[in-house]
Amino acid sequence: MTSTATRPRGARARAAIAAKTLRTDRWWFAPLITVVGLSAWVIYATVRVFMHRWYWVPDYHYLTPFYSPCVTERCVEGSSHFGSFLPGWWIIPDAALTLPFLLLFRLTCYYYRKAYYRSFWLSPPACAVPDGHKSYSGETRFPLLGQNLHRYFFYAAAIISLINTWDAIYAFHSPKGFGFGLGNVVLLVNVVMLWAYTISCHSCRHIIGGRLKHFSKHPVRYKAWTGVSWLNTRHMQLAWITLGTLALTDFYVMAIAAGWFPDLRFIN
Ligand code: FES
Repeated sequence: MTSTATRPRGARARAAIAAKTLRTDRWWFAPLITVVGLSAWVIYATVRVFMHRWYWVPDYHYLTPFYSPCVTERCVEGSSHFGSFLPGWWIIPDAALTLPFLLLFRLTCYYYRKAYYRSFWLSPPACAVPDGHKSYSGETRFPLLGQNLHRYFFYAAAIISLINTWDAIYAFHSPKGFGFGLGNVVLLVNVVMLWAYTISCHSCRHIIGGRLKHFSKHPVRYKAWTGVSWLNTRHMQLAWITLGTLALTDFYVMAIAAGWFPDLRFIN
């Protein structure tokens, strides 16, 4: 509440209302499904990352994004495209080089901040609903001060998207030569959506078109900024879609690797 000392001259004090909120709609629904959705995804991803199996299909060169690039000594033959130089301890994820950066990229994402500040932190849970905490320091102190590093995690995520792109291209070249199956479609769709999410990042938008005084003098950057801005307005949707495509891609590769059902092959 605005104190008398900080209230602008002439402004009235806020009405003293006993009720916690006057909202009568289902304002709690969005935070609730966010908690359910994000928790389910984190549980699935954690189980898969520490399963250490069913991540590579040698017949079709499918590699799940959760194990890309596979860099531990435990990686099965053919799955390490960039060498296997980390020890194969259970606690070390096989994609230990990329997963921490992807996690930090999503954790510091402007949309996910909104999602978990509201849903997990209740700070505040919704508009016109009081904060679940007594004091509020925003992102001015450690550890939330670290949210400002988002732009650097964006660069890391862009490199990781390149690696995922390589995985999707590599999967067209199976040991028998060129091949094309449903798994290729799944990997491709996932990588396209990952790029869309990465490019729609607020930091990317600023890198492309920020600090320009005259768009007319930078037509190429202006065009690119317009495109990124279009994607940026869909950033929340892309954040959720990519969680879905990542889990789906991983599940598909796991199912084929485990032999639960065969890959649908169109060529070879
Ligand atoms: Fe969401 Fe950058 S703002 S990824």
